[in-house]
Amino acid sequence: MVTIAVDGPSGSGKSSVSKAVAGRLGLAYLDTGAMYRAATLWCVRTDVALDDADAVARAVREMPLEMGVDPAAPGVVLDGDDVAAAIRTTEVSSAVSQVATNLEVRAEMKRRQRAVIDAENTDGFSGGRGIVAEGRDITTVVAPDADARVLLTASEEARLRRRSLEVHGAADAAAVDATRDQVLRRDRDDSTVSQFLTAADGVVTVDSSELDLDQTVAAVLSVVDRLG
Ligand code: C5P
Repeated sequence: MVTIAVDGPSGSGKSSVSKAVAGRLGLAYLDTGAMYRAATLWCVRTDVALDDADAVARAVREMPLEMGVDPAAPGVVLDGDDVAAAIRTTEVSSAVSQVATNLEVRAEMKRRQRAVIDAENTDGFSGGRGIVAEGRDITTVVAPDADARVLLTASEEARLRRRSLEVHGAADAAAVDATRDQVLRRDRDDSTVSQFLTAADGVVTVDSSELDLDQTVAAVLSVVDRLG
């Protein structure tokens, strides 16, 4: 059994890469960013003011969230509702850092994420073969004991181009400009509580600026291979 931790800023390609690595190795996959996004959506849907830190923490502790861990179809089910698309709206993307910088929310998320990681590393009926978990603080806080720890980086230009393609379906100058503020602000806000802009001790950096998806997957797999 194995745990692979992948962190990185937005647009680094960590979701696509982590899903592909999990698929190739037959491992489960956990998108922790989706959990913070679901927490944000939950607060919006239950009319919790995002600037009321105590109310947000309370709401998140009670949030009925189920995370699917199949890399081919990782579902996000909130109170019985499939919210995979609803958590990717601009509204959620621009509000998520406010929820994610709440330290009580982070403690609750860590507890839930550890439970998923541990379940996938347990022998027995419900146990799996291991997991790839990705986010901002997996290599440092949630799974510092992971077998392989990777920081996926990319130049600002490459990250903005990728995010722009994802959100606007285009990467011309206007689309990239429309993406810039949101991406850079989110990374700046997120980096006040998680270290994902530079690699922590023992974390291997993979720079994907000049690599396509297959090449980046190969680079991460070679880090995992070095485990022997
Ligand atoms: O990876 P993604 O862009 O979907 O993450 C959404 C947000 O969730 C991030 O901007 C950050 O605020 C938060 N996050 C976090 N810690 C993680 C994963 C995501 O704070 N491990």
